[in-house]
Amino acid sequence: MDVTEDTLHGATERAKFREMKEGTREDWALIGGEYMNFARGLPDRILAHLALLDGDFGGFPVCRLEHSLQTATRAHRDGRDETYVVMALLHDIGDTLGTYNHPEVAASIIKPFVSEEVHWICQNHGHFQGYYYFHFLGMDRESREQFRGSPHFDACAEFCEKYDQAAFDPDYDSEPLAFFEPMVRRVMARPVNSLYARVAEAA
Ligand SMILES: [Fe+2]
Ligand SMILES: [Fe+2]
Repeated sequence: MDVTEDTLHGATERAKFREMKEGTREDWALIGGEYMNFARGLPDRILAHLALLDGDFGGFPVCRLEHSLQTATRAHRDGRDETYVVMALLHDIGDTLGTYNHPEVAASIIKPFVSEEVHWICQNHGHFQGYYYFHFLGMDRESREQFRGSPHFDACAEFCEKYDQAAFDPDYDSEPLAFFEPMVRRVMARPVNSLYARVAEAA
């Protein structure tokens, strides 16, 4: 899962324009090809970023990587499909860069690859997870109630009850990151919901 120089910086051939309005079909054929090379590296970048959570405890009984693995393992062993398991694996990946809004970071990353419901669960899990601890911090544990009318309310509550809030056990035998790697690659092989999906289809 190396992030190669090419993945990060692209090949040596360059488009000729100095402003986009000078762009040509040839420029964009080149850029389109490079985009697909870069897109193929997404699972590598995701897995490398997830590994940054290793050893980051923040006072919790398990580190953020173990929490992520444990959430995904519990979902997988409960028979959830791959898109759901990948969501479970990545649901807290935004902790590093989206420290004040981490659910939205993960939701944005998985949005092109998952159903509306799986995306919704990820996007809103912070409010639902709060049911288990907000009251200890002077916050409203019923924050999730603002979403009561949503068709995805029960699914999100179930995610937190069965997997997310349950994934802090230091003695649980979670699968390693390598176990989930093929799932991440399969789920991210094709965007089904993206502004740029047509470029991927053409490749
Ligand atoms: Fe979270
Ligand atoms: Fe979590």
